[in-house]
Amino acid sequence: MRDSEKLGLHARYGGYALVTGAARGIGRAFATYLAADGFDLLLVDREAEDTQALAEELRTGHGIDARPIICDLADADLRSKAQEWVDAYEVGLLVNNAGVSPLDPFFDISLDAHVATLDLNCRATLVLTYLAGKKMAARGRGGIIVVSSASGMSGSPYFCHYAATKGYGLNLAAGLWSELQGSGVDAMAVCPGMTDTKPVQDRNLGNDLPFYVPLTGPEPVALGALRALGKQPVLVPTWADRMSAGLLSKLLPRGWTLSIMKKSIEKMRR
Ligand SMILES: NC(=O)c1ccc[n+]([C@@H]2O[C@H](COP(=O)([O-])OP(=O)(O)OC[C@H]3O[C@@H](n4cnc5c(N)ncnc54)[C@H](OP(=O)(O)O)[C@@H]3O)[C@@H](O)[C@H]2O)c1
Repeated sequence: MRDSEKLGLHARYGGYALVTGAARGIGRAFATYLAADGFDLLLVDREAEDTQALAEELRTGHGIDARPIICDLADADLRSKAQEWVDAYEVGLLVNNAGVSPLDPFFDISLDAHVATLDLNCRATLVLTYLAGKKMAARGRGGIIVVSSASGMSGSPYFCHYAATKGYGLNLAAGLWSELQGSGVDAMAVCPGMTDTKPVQDRNLGNDLPFYVPLTGPEPVALGALRALGKQPVLVPTWADRMSAGLLSKLLPRGWTLSIMKKSIEKMRR
């Protein structure tokens, strides 16, 4: 992104952008675009080395302040830590991105792992959105993005609990979008389909659908979300995922959708 193509979000919201799960994948792409837009950054992730290296890269490359915050967002003490962050820094834009997606039959995943997924995908999103968002509302400006998932629109076999947590983020952001209209605070959920953020064994997922769904990288997801913030409550970021989500979550009966997804995921797990 060149200077002439700045998103204008820092001019609109000011302050720091807090990005969770910033070290890799979609979070890293968000952090990079936000640095280019002029935001100072709070980069929250449990991966110390990668987060510190990214902070250094963005400080040097964009002349901004970028602070690595190394933390497990599923920890029980998140609430007090998050309160410290929002008291110490003016958070103008919050990107709730960190998420885990255990893939297995529901009862093969331990209850501890399910609860940890709930703590990260839902509790951390709630805590950060509440604490940072309340200050934004008082200031009369700010932006909140929740990274949900296309699976949150339909539910998904083998990702049962993950998809349920993503439905939570989707509905939290959609409700806030409506409730906060006119307040100066924008909220939005972004619902990516399969995104190539790691050496994914998932490369075949989606390609067993009635049409070919190419995998997208993290950059179009982040840039699409940043461009759409303030314009709509929910974004499915690529045309291929829009087609697939439209078919799977709107046109087909839910039972058909879940059967198609089950076949695709079983193929991926082989
Ligand atoms: N990739 C996809 O296909 C896809 C599709 C739809 C939605 N999404 C959503 O997009 C978001 C980002 O996905 P991604 O694929 O870019 O993720 P990713 O590549 O796995 O990166 C996520 C980052 O968050 C960190 N993280 C995980 N758990 C954490 C915790 N408890 N506390 C602090 N940091 C933690 C990870 O550290 P570790 O490496 O140590 O885990 C990693 O650095 C997630 O919410 C995901 O559900 C992804």
